[in-house]
Amino acid sequence: MTKDRKLIFAGNWKMNKTVAEALDLVRGLKIELANIKEADIVVCPPFTALSEVSKAILDSNIRLGAQDMSPNNVGAFTGEIAAVMLKEFSVRYVILGHSERRQYQKESDELIAKKAAASHAASLKPIVCVGETLSERDGGNTQQVLETQIRGSLAGLNKDQMTETIIAYEPVWAIGTGKTATSDQAEEAHRFIRQLLGQVFDETVARKVRIQYGGSVKPSNARELMSQPDVDGALVGGASLESRSFADIIKNSIG
Ligand code: PGA
Repeated sequence: MTKDRKLIFAGNWKMNKTVAEALDLVRGLKIELANIKEADIVVCPPFTALSEVSKAILDSNIRLGAQDMSPNNVGAFTGEIAAVMLKEFSVRYVILGHSERRQYQKESDELIAKKAAASHAASLKPIVCVGETLSERDGGNTQQVLETQIRGSLAGLNKDQMTETIIAYEPVWAIGTGKTATSDQAEEAHRFIRQLLGQVFDETVARKVRIQYGGSVKPSNARELMSQPDVDGALVGGASLESRSFADIIKNSIG
């Protein structure tokens, strides 16, 4: 099927892969994905592998992303990585506000909004993650949670910046659990987010923003999810750690 928006697939490797393992994976991906032009392809290795992976994908259709960044540009922030440091390795994308960081590092929407602003200032495209927990869904609060996260995490972005921002809808209960949202559940959330973007920004922005689905995406369910009108790609965790499964997700989605 054809969509106005180009599909974008990002592999979130999380805290996996030494440099040697990362290079193995990316060499496999280069071969498997060599002819793909229909979708944007991004890999997000841990910081320690960015340098080597960056060199390995120089002559390929694979782009580099990071898993987080500091909202600050320089200075006394022990353990943090600034956007300008990511740019040294030709990083183009950065995942922000992943539910694991919201949960374990207690990241707030306010902090994520600062990071999103800093990423745009450095011309890095943020992939801003939102999504409800199981108890929030069961309590009938999904839309309210998404609205709070969208309004808070994207606060202060202008329309041009928003157009260049990617949103990842990742229901927390579907991440790493093998339980995928049904395509109807995904579409319902994506449509809601797009409608909200229309209110907060405008209709043109809402039409252009790409919204990825994330949460147990696999080769077997990717096509059905991507066939939904408001689903524009995937943020893939577990299945992005092997070249064959990540490549098959992309091939099955565009084929
Ligand atoms: P998963 O993770 O594909 O392993 O469910 C997705 C994510 O956390 O981005």
